[in-house]
Amino acid sequence: MRTVSLGNTGPRVSALGLGCMGMSALYGEADRAESVATIHAALEAGVTLLDTGDFYGMGHNEMLIGEALRSAPAARREQALVSVKFGALRDPDGGWSGYDGRPAAVRNFAAYSLQRLGVDHIDVYRIARVDPDVPIEETVGAIAELVEKGYVRHIGLSEAGAETVRRAAATAPVSDLQIEYSLISRGIERDILPTTRELGIGITAYGVLSRGLISGHFTADRQLAAGDFRAHSPRFQGENLRHNLNLVEALRKIADDKGVTVAQIAIAWVLSRGEDIVPLVGARRRDRLTEALGALDVTLEEAELKAIEEAVPEGAAAGERYPEAQMAHLDSER
Ligand SMILES: NC(=O)c1ccc[n+]([C@@H]2O[C@H](COP(=O)([O-])OP(=O)(O)OC[C@H]3O[C@@H](n4cnc5c(N)ncnc54)[C@H](OP(=O)(O)O)[C@@H]3O)[C@@H](O)[C@H]2O)c1
Repeated sequence: MRTVSLGNTGPRVSALGLGCMGMSALYGEADRAESVATIHAALEAGVTLLDTGDFYGMGHNEMLIGEALRSAPAARREQALVSVKFGALRDPDGGWSGYDGRPAAVRNFAAYSLQRLGVDHIDVYRIARVDPDVPIEETVGAIAELVEKGYVRHIGLSEAGAETVRRAAATAPVSDLQIEYSLISRGIERDILPTTRELGIGITAYGVLSRGLISGHFTADRQLAAGDFRAHSPRFQGENLRHNLNLVEALRKIADDKGVTVAQIAIAWVLSRGEDIVPLVGARRRDRLTEALGALDVTLEEAELKAIEEAVPEGAAAGERYPEAQMAHLDSER
């Protein structure tokens, strides 16, 4: 597996990371045994970066990763790097009630995550959304103290805008910014990516398949459970969905000509944007993982990149990437 450096100060990680969210939350039911098998298969294939959030299934995802790490061969477990997001506040009924980036909360979140994961340190630690009531310097400063004490190795950011990235980086070394980036979510190209590149900060890109929308497997008649994020996501609704799936069909022609899959084209396109960008793929099953890993062998020539951008021009998607209330939490969209 090819490895890359996560920013100037971050760890070396596999060129593709595994995002584990869907194994516990937001995409409907997941199979626990298959989830653990998928994590094991990823580690076996050389994937070293596992991404989670303490709020994915209210601790469920961290406990799942902990279980998978404990039952993996020692050599694989030792190579694994776990990136954890914190800060989202949940209700017992699964509701969301804001973010908390106060230093005491940061220490509290970390203490619980270490226990649930069953590890003595977290490799990359980041607040999931910038808390508008707490200066980023205070949140990042609290993580920096955890780094000093050995509980955290690297500081990351998530969905932060360019100005916040600068302020965070002036406080302590930042390894990477985790943010949505795909053929149909290219907002970071304007200000954020130039800023992270100037500062030597890596990108861990999520939603590279736009949550399955541009994977080539999503169909208009798919029934989604009420708790499935996609049941409320603007891009998956009615006319927007039909429009967006037409873009996928245009991509499918390019994929077919090249003898690869749509998902592989979408992941390979993100990989082609630069070595500083590490896609986190949200595979929940081994077959999806195998497909995603195949993207690492796909090289896109200039003419193919041009054809892809013609098939899916910037801004071509219908609908925002989050429902309105959640868009309001995105510092990156201000
Ligand atoms: N920082 C943040 O704010 C943030 C937000 C969201 C996610 N994340 C992180 O990023 C990770 C990835 O995000 P994501 O899951 O939304 O992105 P994604 O990779 O765009 O979407 C994953 C979904 O795509 C579908 N899919 C179809 N073919 C696939 C293939 N070959 N490989 C992988 N998935 C395939 C799967 O749905 P089916 O299984 O239903 O087919 C899967 O649930 C998450 O697990 C999480 O760790 C971070």
